[in-house]
Amino acid sequence: MKNIKFGLIALSVATAAPSALAFQQGDIVVRAGLTNVSPDDSSSNIFVGSDLGVDLSVGDDTQLGLNIAYFVTDRLNIEVLAATPFTHDVDFGVSDPLGTGDRLGEVTHLPPTITLNYYFNTPSSAFQPYVGAGINYTVFFDEGFTSANDAAGLKNLSLDNSFGFSAQVGVDYMVNEQWFINGSVRWIDIDTEASFNLNGTPGSVNSIEIDPMVYTISLGYRF
Ligand code: NI
Repeated sequence: MKNIKFGLIALSVATAAPSALAFQQGDIVVRAGLTNVSPDDSSSNIFVGSDLGVDLSVGDDTQLGLNIAYFVTDRLNIEVLAATPFTHDVDFGVSDPLGTGDRLGEVTHLPPTITLNYYFNTPSSAFQPYVGAGINYTVFFDEGFTSANDAAGLKNLSLDNSFGFSAQVGVDYMVNEQWFINGSVRWIDIDTEASFNLNGTPGSVNSIEIDPMVYTISLGYRF
């Protein structure tokens, strides 16, 4: 009986001790840092009465990135990605059919993303890598043309919100049991379409694939 008790204690110590750095069920982690959204964009041509023969391009932006994750098991967490709003320049793809400068305008968006991550959970390593898959909802707002384009008759730019998949790889480098440094690379499928008016004539871009790579470097804390 004593031997069995000792065996159980030894077993519980053996399973608990090496996981000081690895995450455990019930852990809550919070990360804050810099997030860069770098579109791998393509679009159909701009259409206003007829095909203008030119497409759009979307620039990149870096903002404060925040995320919080809860470990439902030692290896699985559910993570919510939030950020301050990203603002992207929108340009003509190649030429400038209206002669109003290459920059068409800008759009602002928030890309909240919920991800299920799997940790490889190497017990005694400071490096805790993970892979994840999730869903994203991107909300566009404050869409607008530059004043030069507005003066040329371009008005009422609007982009549809987007719902799509995301996938990521990341690693937490444990500085100690509480603090860690995180790096992640994420792909988000963000597809939208744009509508606007040019001197009262409705215009559209029917397919805009933004599909960004999202790079984050942050400082994390485990509760
Ligand atoms: Ni896409």
